[in-house]
Amino acid sequence: MKALVLAAGSGTRLRPVTHTGAKQLVPVANKPVLFYALEAIAQAGITDVGIVVGPSSDDIKEAVGDGSSLGIDVTYICQDVPLGLAHAVLISQDFLGSEDFLMYLGDNFVGGGVAAFADEFRRTRPEAQILLTPVPDATAFGVAELDADGHVVSLEEKPPAPRSDLAVMGVYLFSAAIHEGIREIKPSARGELEITHAIQWLIEEGRDVRASVHSGYWRDTGNVTDMLEVNRHVLDAASGEIAGEVDSESQLTGAVRIAPGARVVRSRIEGPAVIGPGTVVTDSRIGPHTSIGEDCEITESHVGASIVLRGSTVRGVPAITASLIGRHTTVTSAPAGDTTHQLVLGDHTRVTLAR
Ligand code: G1P
Repeated sequence: MKALVLAAGSGTRLRPVTHTGAKQLVPVANKPVLFYALEAIAQAGITDVGIVVGPSSDDIKEAVGDGSSLGIDVTYICQDVPLGLAHAVLISQDFLGSEDFLMYLGDNFVGGGVAAFADEFRRTRPEAQILLTPVPDATAFGVAELDADGHVVSLEEKPPAPRSDLAVMGVYLFSAAIHEGIREIKPSARGELEITHAIQWLIEEGRDVRASVHSGYWRDTGNVTDMLEVNRHVLDAASGEIAGEVDSESQLTGAVRIAPGARVVRSRIEGPAVIGPGTVVTDSRIGPHTSIGEDCEITESHVGASIVLRGSTVRGVPAITASLIGRHTTVTSAPAGDTTHQLVLGDHTRVTLAR
């Protein structure tokens, strides 16, 4: 079995961070979200992995390389135009051949991995198998309707009035039959070849399409709220490790990971939290549920429930929460007495200031 990882999406809901970096490389607990997917694939015993890349292909190639550090062998496939998930499969034909494959959307985070799902497919070998999970609002997803025996009756892409609360997760198992479905479908209203429609075609043809309901943790990390939520989830399960320097005036509580080369001075770190290599935290409070990337400077500030990417500075800001701060960004307080805000913001930035 092969794997096809889709990492071509441009991440409009994560702008401005995704203007300069791939959404699949936004770090969760200081590790790119894409790496959790690749590790889950390796754990499922799949080593032959195609990664479909788009505008941010250089960044992804640099981060993942040939995959050997993750125990996989990566082939890159270039999707020049964002014409949909089924289009990504279409252009990956040479790589996939007629083999079975696991398709994984590179911005999805699946708690517990996908090994059990892949094993079930290998054992029962239907023509396609999808993973479903109940969500409070299914309108943003593919939605499946099941009959009393658990067979998939219908699939709809982002229906305004969903027929169930079962969202299609971004993890699918396919036999070569999916290629027939993809050849039959037409672009959707949003101009994309939808994988959901290709699976629906198989269902209508009476093919063996099965569904498993995932009861564990799952998030599509397409927006900031979900990205921070996954960060919280991963940190909650992380253990502490102090490799960097912590001075005697600092206090650590809960699971705190301080990378080699990081320094904590007169500060309080409330776990779960991670501090990246080369980062210096001085007279500050960090956490809980906070990931600070490498080479950052946090001085006289409090940062909680947030992700700060590498090379950023936060100085003299008492209360930053629920924030995603991009690379090489500076957030500072104004000189005493100055009550104005001075902003130099990138395109599509969102700022919420306390009054
Ligand atoms: C895609 C699929 C959708 C699925 C979702 C899961 O949507 O089209 O069926 O529920 O991924 O993350 P997209 O995120 O591309 O809009």
